[in-house]
Amino acid sequence: MDLRSRIRDIPDYPKRGIVFRDITPLLLDAAALDAAVDALVAYAAPRDVQYVVAAEARGFILGAAVARQLGAGFVPARKPGKLPAETVSAEYILEYGVDALEMHADALAHGANVLVHDDLLATGGTARALCDLVEQLGGHVVGCAFLAELAFLGGRERLAPFDVHALVSYASETERGG
Ligand code: PRP
Ligand code: MG
Repeated sequence: MDLRSRIRDIPDYPKRGIVFRDITPLLLDAAALDAAVDALVAYAAPRDVQYVVAAEARGFILGAAVARQLGAGFVPARKPGKLPAETVSAEYILEYGVDALEMHADALAHGANVLVHDDLLATGGTARALCDLVEQLGGHVVGCAFLAELAFLGGRERLAPFDVHALVSYASETERGG
């Protein structure tokens, strides 16, 4: 299954010079959706994963499906103020300013093996925050799995020493999908 061909390039979105890698064509293709979940599960299966932690909003789409297929629990990391019980928080740097993600403080059993998931690895700020949240709660990040990676932004380096796996990798901003 050629997943790359199901990711659509949208030039100049959200601003001029940026090519947005749109995963919605992949999601609406039942066979591609199935293949993507299977490939993420194949990476995670040998790692004895007890929880999948994923970032609001796009990380939820495949993250819950992967957790279900692994027989693991699913933990949502959300933007500040969205979770109702006691939370832990991790900040990350955006192009302009700082944002944060929160997780419920009782979301993980201490020592649990955790797969970190998001749809896209770009600069790595979001995924790094997910790893920080897992570690704050005493969990072990056993791998970080993404549908796509913008390799030229150095996210993989930012996540070191954690293991990183991406199903589709783009070497440059303009590299053609498909
Ligand atoms: C996008 C994407 C990843 C993140 C990757 O999310 O879904 O979560 O950016 O970028 P980074 O590696 O530089 O942190 P976005 O913040 O646009 O929000 P969304 O998932 O709610 O659409
Ligand atoms: Mg996101």
